[in-house]
Amino acid sequence: MTRKRTAILISGRGSNMSALIAAAMAPDFPARIDLVISNRPGAAGLERAQAADIETAVVDHKAFETREAFEAEVQALLEARDIELLCLAGFMRILTDGFIATWLDRMINIHPSLLPMFKGLDTHQRALDAGVRLAGCTVHVVRPEMDTGPIIAQAAVPVLPGDTAETLGKRVLAAEHRLYPHALALYVTGKARVSGERIVFHEVEADGEGSLMSPTLITREQADA
Ligand code: GAR
Repeated sequence: MTRKRTAILISGRGSNMSALIAAAMAPDFPARIDLVISNRPGAAGLERAQAADIETAVVDHKAFETREAFEAEVQALLEARDIELLCLAGFMRILTDGFIATWLDRMINIHPSLLPMFKGLDTHQRALDAGVRLAGCTVHVVRPEMDTGPIIAQAAVPVLPGDTAETLGKRVLAAEHRLYPHALALYVTGKARVSGERIVFHEVEADGEGSLMSPTLITREQADA
């Protein structure tokens, strides 16, 4: 098996990056993490990547006059290492249409909501404000319009009474850490493929009966039992 040469783009803490690195430590994981690039010099994720013996680079967007110049530097690093796939993991820069076209169907992102709900920022507070009972996260293929693109996988978590953006965010983040490696593996093996701006699945067993409910429904008989 040839493992896809993958780079992760981060801007901060890098906990999703760490989840991907940990998964890729398994020799049978279908992607290998060859490079981590941060657009912020102080990103905590850089140290975490170095501690895992992954090569890191900083491309400080503030040092460039234009988005294109910043991206040209990122692109040069990726090409020098023959990177085949990009994972955005808390990467908080908007990418140009040109860069996205260069990486068409070869760049995926994780977003902390059940897309297409709550695109953009402050997803957990907005979920609470909207009163939804399920929140979650999405891994999708990147398209020019922010937080859109074919959805590879989603995970849902309950919104619990008394939740704050912080407590809900923690629950979603734990789900992100499980979802992202799973979605990456589905995508690089071709089990999840883009077709007509949707994802189609090959050789993936569907568990059509599974459901997640919040709050869990209980009948009068169950309650009395
Ligand atoms: C994650 O919750 C990720 O989904 C989110 O930023 C956080 C990064 O945390 N990404 C976005 O909001 C992108 N629109 P991490 O650096 O610990 O992975």
